[in-house]
Amino acid sequence: MTQFNPLNLKGKNILVTGASSGIGRACAGYFGKLGANLALCGRNEQQLEQTRQMLPAEGNHIVCPFDMLDSAALEPALKDIVGRAGLINGVLLCAGVTKTMPLRFTLENDITNLLNTNLKSVIVFLKHFLNPKISARPCSIVLMASAAGVTGAPGKTVYSASKAGLIGLCRSLAVELAQDKIRVNAISPGYVKTDMFAELSKQLTPVQLENIISQHPLGLGATEDVAASAAFLLSDASGWVTGTNLVVDGGFSAK
Ligand SMILES: NC(=O)c1ccc[n+]([C@@H]2O[C@H](COP(=O)([O-])OP(=O)(O)OC[C@H]3O[C@@H](n4cnc5c(N)ncnc54)[C@H](OP(=O)(O)O)[C@@H]3O)[C@@H](O)[C@H]2O)c1
Repeated sequence: MTQFNPLNLKGKNILVTGASSGIGRACAGYFGKLGANLALCGRNEQQLEQTRQMLPAEGNHIVCPFDMLDSAALEPALKDIVGRAGLINGVLLCAGVTKTMPLRFTLENDITNLLNTNLKSVIVFLKHFLNPKISARPCSIVLMASAAGVTGAPGKTVYSASKAGLIGLCRSLAVELAQDKIRVNAISPGYVKTDMFAELSKQLTPVQLENIISQHPLGLGATEDVAASAAFLLSDASGWVTGTNLVVDGGFSAK
């Protein structure tokens, strides 16, 4: 008897951006265990290769370094991936940057970098991804938003705006693409223990840090908590789910 696994990703080609570290790397590992073939994207080729070596030996896993901010590189990179792996069945757009700073002191360059990396590059990427010579039908698109896109926090104005933008993008694109059998969903994690969180922690006093931790009734998240939700949204188990923002935050935004 074959084992029933509704999250099975066997044979699916899944592209993950931000696969060189943190949540993206953990998601790639999780999808690999569920049988997916992975296209691992990010800028740091060496770290992408490290991710590839963590994946199960079976499966066609490839490393595809490119910069999300280099608009001209996106279409050739996608064509290269399809040439090496075949049409893409699902994508997790996890690449992102953060900066915690009161708006008054935020430089215009930082605003541009945050909005371009977290939002504009995703829109340009998706414009090319929707080409039927790149993405398969049916297909699942998952955007990595943030609880900061639905709740407010001091110092997070620009980051929150970029992530709220992704949630809006998700709803409209889901409606636009439903007829093409392409689902679009977002995930909004609370604080997850990654390098990004470690960097943020350095800017906080112990009291501020304790305050953030205590705002999560179930404690801080682990990367695998997010990966399980992403796997659900990429799998056929979520076949009737589109345009949603799945909040995975240990109760952070419930209060
Ligand atoms: N950690 C949290 O608490 C938390 C909470 C909510 C949401 N999120 C979101 O989850 C995602 C991953 O966060 P993380 O904590 O795992 O952070 P991380 O470890 O810093 O990972 C960020 C990833 O984004 C990639 N990246 C950044 N700029 C890029 C660019 N211009 N082009 C291509 N790739 C780029 C990095 O790869 P390279 O360095 O190789 O380019 C890296 O793999 C982000 O979108 C973040 O906003 C995180």
